[in-house]
Amino acid sequence: MPKLVIVNRAGEEKEVDAQAGLSLMEAIRDNGFDEMLALCGGCCSCATCHVHIDAAFADKVPAMSEDENDLLDSTDHRDATSRLSCQIPLTDALDGMRVTLAEAD
Ligand code: FES
Repeated sequence: MPKLVIVNRAGEEKEVDAQAGLSLMEAIRDNGFDEMLALCGGCCSCATCHVHIDAAFADKVPAMSEDENDLLDSTDHRDATSRLSCQIPLTDALDGMRVTLAEAD
């Protein structure tokens, strides 16, 4: 069961026990982060699950699909650490990862 550190838009941190097999988006939403709108429910079509991933874990998450890349291009706050959290399945390899919710567009 990976532990994650989630940072909300106010900069407040919370350590959560996430369940492997869920998506990162589901783990964030299920732990009470209302800022995570995830409007499309994880279909990779809304970009409201945008997060910034700890750079140390960049090679432990799956490569970005073309659809995810295109959607991230539509956001105003993209940077090198940007990912759509619904596209990241949780595994034990992500234990200790720090994830920051992206600013709303
Ligand atoms: S929840 Fe819509 S793209 Fe991730």
